[in-house]
Amino acid sequence: MPKLLILGAGTHARVVLDCLRAMGRGGDVLGFVEVDGDRARWGKSYDGCRVLGGIARLASLAKSADEAALGYGANVRRAELASLARRHHLRLPVLVHPRASVSPRARLGPGTQVLAGAVVVTGARLGAGVIVNTGATIDHDCRVGAAVHIAPGAHLAGTVVVGRLSWIGIGAAVREGTRIGAGAVVGAGAAVVTAVSANATVVGVPARPV
Ligand SMILES: CC(C)(COP(=O)(O)OP(=O)(O)OC[C@H]1O[C@@H](n2cnc3c(N)ncnc32)[C@H](O)[C@@H]1OP(=O)(O)O)[C@@H](O)C(=O)NCCC(=O)NCCS
Repeated sequence: MPKLLILGAGTHARVVLDCLRAMGRGGDVLGFVEVDGDRARWGKSYDGCRVLGGIARLASLAKSADEAALGYGANVRRAELASLARRHHLRLPVLVHPRASVSPRARLGPGTQVLAGAVVVTGARLGAGVIVNTGATIDHDCRVGAAVHIAPGAHLAGTVVVGRLSWIGIGAAVREGTRIGAGAVVGAGAAVVTAVSANATVVGVPARPV
């Protein structure tokens, strides 16, 4: 099996490790690569997996690896890490937790992660490096741009369109057909019933800009 580096050494990196282990790929993981300049983490182990060093070592670490998993929750940084991985000829595998459900008629871009209990329904199209976090659902025919994060327990009804780098907060709900612009933030627990502009932050029920 291809050998794999996890880019990141924080909380989301551990979630990704857990997902890989559940997928039966724990033995393929070479270790974490720390990406925030936090040298105190170098050489430490988290959940039984070692931090191999900082991101500046990627060129040398990549020589023993074939793939990179994106272990970083924040969108802009995750997108940067995806570009860096590609520059070092590391493939970005799609990760689907064995207890997630993904329709064979959904499409997932490279490096996208569908975590435990999440559901992606028929006709959905997800770009590269998307996180569909624990228990989130993306219903039929949604379009989700690259490096979006759908936080735990958030729900997109059918035909929702989410622009790249947007963040849909924990437990939010988005009405069918609604468009959310690129770089938008939807607050935890919001109910989105009308379009959200690019880079806007909305909160509440119904969701309003703040
Ligand atoms: C919307 C959000 C991004 C705003 O964060 P922030 O800019 O740091 O905002 P603050 O916490 O300073 O709150 C600003 C105001 O908005 C209110 N507010 C913040 N989040 C809210 C939410 N989700 N719903 C309703 N009101 C909210 C606060 O009560 C505060 O109101 P006040 O000015 O009357 O006191 C954030 O609260 C949020 O919901 N993030 C999503 C978290 C998430 O999904 N985590 C998942 C991790 S995987």
